[in-house]
Amino acid sequence: MSQKINIAPEAFEYMEKVTGAGGVEVKVNLPKEKIEKINSICDAFGNDPGELINVLHEAQHAFGYIPAEIQDIVAHNLHMPVSQVYGVVTFYTFFSMTPKGEHPVSVCTGTACYVRGAERVLEEFRKELQLEVGETTPDGRFSLNCLRCVGACGLAPVVLVGEKVYGRVSPDGVKAIIEEYKK
Ligand code: FES
Repeated sequence: MSQKINIAPEAFEYMEKVTGAGGVEVKVNLPKEKIEKINSICDAFGNDPGELINVLHEAQHAFGYIPAEIQDIVAHNLHMPVSQVYGVVTFYTFFSMTPKGEHPVSVCTGTACYVRGAERVLEEFRKELQLEVGETTPDGRFSLNCLRCVGACGLAPVVLVGEKVYGRVSPDGVKAIIEEYKK
């Protein structure tokens, strides 16, 4: 039996009808390639609900973030409620629902970093970038996130910008880090 789910179609820039497992049709506003990509990721894990975390990891890797439309398709393919997928995406800090900036700033707020002042470092990044945690600047250059321990506690407090690790970061040093990426 075919059941059609329409997700706020009037808001869509692009509409694509997807027929997934069980013949259920979902309408989403994603380009065809992205739909094919997420379907192939789900397929690679056998559309198994027990593989949700692995599917989301692959999706995050492929798209850089996991927007609501991707969550809808994952839920649909893995035969689970969207609320369950949303719950997992929002629970783990390594999943993001918004696109990361060209220079993603991640402040470690694990215990060692926290006791050595990560909170004040984070506050300084929020002020300088005018961002809340989880947001991206309007020009797409910077995004701000928190991480749990990245395994460099000896260098606490630690900040990552992309792959680059900054150790013993003080609030006073935040401006200089940002400047490096503004050039
Ligand atoms: S707590 Fe920050 S690197 Fe370990």
